[in-house]
Amino acid sequence: MGSGFSLFPEQASTLAPRVDNLYFFIVAVTAFFAVLVSVLVIVFAWKYRTSDPLAVGEHIHGSIPLELGWSIIPFVVAVVIFGWAADVFFDLQRPPDQTIEIYSTAKRWMWKFQHVDGQSEINELHVPVGRAVKVMFTSEDVLHSMFFPSFRVKADAIPGRYSTVWFTATKIGEYHLFCAEYCGTNHSGMIGKVVVMEPAAYQSWLTGALGAGSISQRGEQLFNDLACNTCHLSDGQGRGPSLVNKFGSSEELTDGARVMVDEAYVRESILRPQAKLVAPYQPLMPTFQGLVSEENVMALVEYIKSLRSSGGGAARTGAPAPRAAAPETRENR
Ligand code: CUA
Repeated sequence: MGSGFSLFPEQASTLAPRVDNLYFFIVAVTAFFAVLVSVLVIVFAWKYRTSDPLAVGEHIHGSIPLELGWSIIPFVVAVVIFGWAADVFFDLQRPPDQTIEIYSTAKRWMWKFQHVDGQSEINELHVPVGRAVKVMFTSEDVLHSMFFPSFRVKADAIPGRYSTVWFTATKIGEYHLFCAEYCGTNHSGMIGKVVVMEPAAYQSWLTGALGAGSISQRGEQLFNDLACNTCHLSDGQGRGPSLVNKFGSSEELTDGARVMVDEAYVRESILRPQAKLVAPYQPLMPTFQGLVSEENVMALVEYIKSLRSSGGGAARTGAPAPRAAAPETRENR
């Protein structure tokens, strides 16, 4: 972290230099033309001045080279900026396949983070250096915005929707986390820090920070408490579809459309089950809107993700089988 005033936050992620280079290029282009125009205004005003108050200006007809020049040059500059920015944008938007997944909820006025293995933190986020980290989050009340200045990533936390930021931290240290969307009285206090650690230190932090079971274990508990398990039988004979191996698959709906079973779809199906009904099931499921907090929805999502038939019956009991081998690695679908 800076010792005193600095114009830019440190570059601490793989994306940071790319975002900065683009930004500096745009600033340089803008500055160049601003200076060019200003200088020409002054030079021409001086060069073509006249002391004769009655002088009539010369009539100017068009100049093809000039007109082509001031059309083509800005066009080329704009296309270069567009192409470059699109390249950076796609990288920002598309997390790599292998990421560490972290869930987060924003609410006035704090950030809660949940590691998949169950560790949770408030206004602090521990991540390892050199590994891609994907943070999936939503808001429990109003609009917030998750902003990691040193990583150059930012996204709004929107009630009712999942947002994602991802980054690969490149330097060990502590960096700011800000809320970048005015959200009420203590908006300015809705801050935190990211602690970037050596992978080994991160591992021991994970083990040291006691969680109340993994997220998916909590989800399994909820799944039973909310009686989801009475309809979603794993043998497919229940009133609702079996959820084993469903996550990441594509399902046909009653209206014939297909839907990808991702986090957003699972969330929607918990809160508004009738919105996209999987064929050929009846619209029997009650809504859980207002009955399940966003954190618990995330736990249910993680539990449903963990339901895999491979691993010999693990799915029946819902034990998060594949997790144990590599606790910090999740394949991201
Ligand atoms: Cu939350 Cu501003």
